[in-house]
Amino acid sequence: MAVSFAEMVQRRLSRREFLKAGTALAAAAALPGCGKTAPTLAASGKSALTFTEQSAEMTTQLEVPPGYQAQVLLKWGDPLWADGPAFDPQQQSAEKQQLQFGFNNDFIGFLPLPLGSSNSEHGLLVVNHEYTNSATMWPGSPPDTKLDKAQTDTDIVAHGLSVVEIRYQNGQWQQIKNSAYTRRITPLTPMQISGPAAGSSRLKTAISADAVHTLGTYGNCAGGVTPWGTVLTGEENIDAMFAGDYSQSSEYDSLKRFGMEVQPQKSWARHYPRWDLSQQPNESLHMGWIVEIDPYDPNSTPKKRTLLGRFKHEGANVFINADGRVVAYMGDDQKFEYLYKFVSSGRYQPDNRAANLDLLDSGTLYCARFDADGTVDWLPLQFGEGPLQAANGFHSQADVLIDTRKAADLLGATPMDRPEDVEVNPANGAVYVMLTKNADRTDKQLNPVNPRARNKAGQIVELVPPKGDHTQNSFAWELFLLAGRRDDPSTNYHPATAVSSWIACPDNCAFDSQGHLWVTSDGAEDFGIAEGVWATEVSGPDRALMRRFLRAPVGSEVCGPFFTPNDQHFFCSIQHPGSGSSFEQPATRWPDFDATLPPRPAVVVINRPDGKVVGS
Ligand code: FEO
Ligand code: CA
Ligand code: CA
Repeated sequence: MAVSFAEMVQRRLSRREFLKAGTALAAAAALPGCGKTAPTLAASGKSALTFTEQSAEMTTQLEVPPGYQAQVLLKWGDPLWADGPAFDPQQQSAEKQQLQFGFNNDFIGFLPLPLGSSNSEHGLLVVNHEYTNSATMWPGSPPDTKLDKAQTDTDIVAHGLSVVEIRYQNGQWQQIKNSAYTRRITPLTPMQISGPAAGSSRLKTAISADAVHTLGTYGNCAGGVTPWGTVLTGEENIDAMFAGDYSQSSEYDSLKRFGMEVQPQKSWARHYPRWDLSQQPNESLHMGWIVEIDPYDPNSTPKKRTLLGRFKHEGANVFINADGRVVAYMGDDQKFEYLYKFVSSGRYQPDNRAANLDLLDSGTLYCARFDADGTVDWLPLQFGEGPLQAANGFHSQADVLIDTRKAADLLGATPMDRPEDVEVNPANGAVYVMLTKNADRTDKQLNPVNPRARNKAGQIVELVPPKGDHTQNSFAWELFLLAGRRDDPSTNYHPATAVSSWIACPDNCAFDSQGHLWVTSDGAEDFGIAEGVWATEVSGPDRALMRRFLRAPVGSEVCGPFFTPNDQHFFCSIQHPGSGSSFEQPATRWPDFDATLPPRPAVVVINRPDGKVVGS
């Protein structure tokens, strides 16, 4: 590509910063490399983010600023029912795990009780359990591929989600163990396939004669809470569960495009034909969707919303457009994959919950094409339009959705640096896209929104819908932050960024009700700094001034950040603490620090005993 990195960044950073922000500070912050060369200016002091910034040192502990408390609320293996089996990692079984909190918590959603209220001290917590680490889960640290049948059965039900009821009392959060809402959703839970791909002959499998009824969800990474009180959970690295030679399958191209491998990454395919691609290749097409779950109805059947596409879904976050239509933003979390948007046909009805429950079954899915002129175009993935025709293997909208990646390839979507969380800021209506990294991008593969080759540190992109209308087909975009080492000239840090507050590999995000952006990392340890949580203003003189709020125990990443409605409680997931080490000799024994226990993934809730909002 002829345009240099500096030119591309300059084009995208210059327009709004220089013309609109208008301050010397903002102008300095807008220059690529300014973090290295510009004089350090003091922050404005006007930001509401006044917590003491944390150091970046990697330790075995979780650290939060002075004045804050971090309570470990739920850990892998905690019994979720009053009579549930106590955690004993030496005697773990599928029967026990089915009744316990699962492994590697990721997305967290807090849904107030009663339904429809904005209660911040009583609600349902819905938590994803994305994957497992056999090395810290099992005595002897067996490889993931070598689990025996009983271990595999346990491993399977350690995935999925947990739904629990929690209450804040006397300065502590507690799980209510005799709650009727408590639920484990696993890879074995009955589900329904919904939307245009339901009933497709390609989805008829050994476990689903009608291609409507199916079993389970797994690889659940991030997600979102809808305004009508459901949770959307993204099925991400589902390829890891499958293995086997599928070269004779009529679905070979689809499986290949999704990244299905012959060699196993886990033990499931060895014990169950459901995950053996040489026996049941079409089973894999049941996975890679967004699943909608109603946690207020413990008997409800989760629904796979096929209209939201099939890819490695990081998650889905919805926003109600001014006209009432529902807009969902989604990332396909793999190198060179795409960003997506869904717009519903129907309109959200605040006073009619039942009418909202199937809003995600009619509407239009779009993929994103970024242009150097600062626009991003949303291209409809509509069967019969453009290249999405029989000549290219598409015979129905079901085919377009089952092969979303292939359809987006043909439409010319922009290959991204691993899109993770994508969320709308409720305060300004702009959309923020976390792009975590892509070390495989070469100098020849640069594009305006992914402007760095061998990108190990990621970036944050801001999308601005015209007049706040998220249904429009063309938005403006800006590079909000190019992350990396504080002194890396390819970054664009605000000059007032503290020495310890640089960030690498932005992954999950959340907004408080004031519109501050809270970002977690997954990959900062590769740069020698602790993973953690950062917060920043998105406008004004402190725009994109990153402040480190939390540092995580070694080997972990932080996921699922979520605020209660009053901003006084901040939930986050500590996922895979001690990863890369072993059950017997872990790099940390967080959070128990008991010599008989391995490190445990856990949900943490952070607040101030004085009751002030988080961030102050
Ligand atoms: Fe599970 Fe996209 O990280
Ligand atoms: Ca993630
Ligand atoms: Ca991640």
